[in-house]
Amino acid sequence: MVDKGEGERPGSHHYRAFVGPPKDYDLLGGLQLSLLLALGLREHHTVCDVGCGSLRVGRMLLSYLEPGRYFGLEPEEWVVRAAIEEELGDDFVARRRPTFRHTADYAVGGFDARFDYVLAQSILSHTYADDAATLLTQISAGLEPSGLLVATFYPSRPSSKNPLPRGADNSGWRYPGNVAYEWTEMQEMAAAAGLRATLLDWPHPRQQWFLAARVDGEVDVARRAGSVRSPHVVGAD
Ligand SMILES: C[S@@+](CC[C@H](N)C(=O)[O-])C[C@H]1O[C@@H](n2cnc3c(N)ncnc32)[C@H](O)[C@@H]1O
Repeated sequence: MVDKGEGERPGSHHYRAFVGPPKDYDLLGGLQLSLLLALGLREHHTVCDVGCGSLRVGRMLLSYLEPGRYFGLEPEEWVVRAAIEEELGDDFVARRRPTFRHTADYAVGGFDARFDYVLAQSILSHTYADDAATLLTQISAGLEPSGLLVATFYPSRPSSKNPLPRGADNSGWRYPGNVAYEWTEMQEMAAAAGLRATLLDWPHPRQQWFLAARVDGEVDVARRAGSVRSPHVVGAD
């Protein structure tokens, strides 16, 4: 039986807790996989999981995708290693042939691949505007013309008693704390990186999903987002 890190604080040095509340580990993986499937993911597609952490969705994508189709970008090598040891095992992972890069440069475009899907779950919720711009530019360079960015951000709520820092106010990466954006700010940052973005209706316990594609590409993002309808997922409210 794996140690699920129950009782550990989000962001602490346990592979499940490091990426968020341990009680949500399975749910957040499931919500990511089901959204990718609803958007048309097939086993022959190539996926980049930006900030793949402890493979919340990676452990399922490695089963679903053909060998060699999963790419994970994650500066914290220990968290990927621990997930492989605790959840998957070396033999299974060797057969599925993932590619990992352990760098903090957001270099999605640095892999020897172009992606049908780039997933950035709870990454833009930790980047101030300078890092967000770097990440979105890299994603734009890494996407196929028909490719999709599937991402979340933390919407700013002006009425909140404890508002999160706003994206434009500082620089770099904030963790485990969050950074909030207005949707119009996120859309503008995406546009500056050559991406057209639209909101997605899909469950998430704390953040907001959006979909984006290259402006010079082949995808009508509004139509693709409109084809997805949020299911009611017990536990994701
Ligand atoms: C909130 S966790 C989300 C992990 C994963 N996407 C998920 O949904 O389970 C954020 C992850 O981003 C990683 N991260 C931090 N800096 C990064 C960078 N420069 N590029 C890519 N990932 C980064 C963290 O180490 C952490 O694993």
